[in-house]
Amino acid sequence: MREVWVDLGLDRSYKVIIAAGILEETGRLLERSIGKRKVMIISNPLVFSLYGERVIHALQSAGMKVHTALIPDGEEYKNLRQVNRMLDEAVTAGLERSSLILALGGGVVGDLAGFTASIYQRGIRCIQVPTTLLSQVDSSVGGKTAVNHPRGKNMIGTFHQPSLVIIDTMTLTTLAEDEYRGGLGEVVKYGVIYDRALFQLLEEKALMLKEREQAAVQEIVYRCVKIKSEIVAEDERESGLRMVLNLGHTFGHSLEKLGNYKSIKHGEAVAIGTLIASLLSREMDLLDDCSVKRITALFKELGMAMSFPDYNAEDIYEGMLNDKKVQDEILRIVLPRGIGGYEIIDNPGRDLLLNIIENAAEL
Ligand SMILES: NC(=O)c1ccc[n+]([C@@H]2O[C@H](COP(=O)([O-])OP(=O)(O)OC[C@H]3O[C@@H](n4cnc5c(N)ncnc54)[C@H](O)[C@@H]3O)[C@@H](O)[C@H]2O)c1
Ligand SMILES: [Zn+2]
Repeated sequence: MREVWVDLGLDRSYKVIIAAGILEETGRLLERSIGKRKVMIISNPLVFSLYGERVIHALQSAGMKVHTALIPDGEEYKNLRQVNRMLDEAVTAGLERSSLILALGGGVVGDLAGFTASIYQRGIRCIQVPTTLLSQVDSSVGGKTAVNHPRGKNMIGTFHQPSLVIIDTMTLTTLAEDEYRGGLGEVVKYGVIYDRALFQLLEEKALMLKEREQAAVQEIVYRCVKIKSEIVAEDERESGLRMVLNLGHTFGHSLEKLGNYKSIKHGEAVAIGTLIASLLSREMDLLDDCSVKRITALFKELGMAMSFPDYNAEDIYEGMLNDKKVQDEILRIVLPRGIGGYEIIDNPGRDLLLNIIENAAEL
């Protein structure tokens, strides 16, 4: 079992616990760090059918009252209507200020459950139990919660840190191949932008990781959570450092949008975005050719297709300009500086970017 402490001062610091098969201990862990409470589990039918009983049993064995509420599976249900339903469930279940909401699922469940917890009775505690690779290494830690508005992703949300995060890496064994691969895109991101040793470890363990070998998966999840927690502790509200986690995202979001969020997975779009950022870095002498080759090789080894969708370069560029993170018309991009470092640049120049996008499509 490994633990990471997210240090946000006296009242709001929390623990992330990582181990294989730890779902069975949810009740005990919760009782130890928070106490015996009434719990409402928010999940979706798929995840609940796989892991719900185990969590309920663990909570009840620790003497806790449990109520379950499900949202349908899918990003399109990460909306205010489902939040309303969850609030109704919370009222019906008689949740009090001292009660907890436990998110059991991927980032969609985690974001929606976190948001619901942040507004119910002006905010109650939320426990994250992430079950996808993306949610384990990224969304469950850091306290960003959100639901989508018809006109834009994650438009409505809050900052609400969880009180505890329980990561059972065994849950990843049932995850669909493309979902797992998507998560690996985010994993590589951490290495490229922040941690050279992690990048090297990924190169060494690529095959084991691809095969979801538990020891390798656990080690990598732990390393990523540690990085995320360091970054969040330093810059909780994304006024500076936390921005580095957007490596590959401005570009990736544009690809996702052009594909109507259907034809390409988020993590794979981020992987291609990371490659574009690396090519831009090379142009600016921030990254040598050998490093670009290593990054590409690692993605391929992990099973990322890296096939560039057939979109017009201008459309991709337009999409980047429309990203919600673009402020005051400044296109701010995170670039790798060597492997393991970063540089943030403003307005890299339209022609340069178009040129790189067009040439990357040939890769
Ligand atoms: N809050 C943040 O900081 C943050 C960061 C990154 C992403 N996000 C959000 O996360 C969401 C994406 O999360 P995601 O990639 O986890 O997608 P997801 O929650 O939609 O899960 C992907 C699919 O896997 C299924 N699933 C989940 N766990 C499983 C398991 N163990 N076995 C089998 N199937 C399982 C789900 O039912 C779903 O069909 C997006 O809405 C994104 O905006 C939030
Ligand atoms: Zn992402």
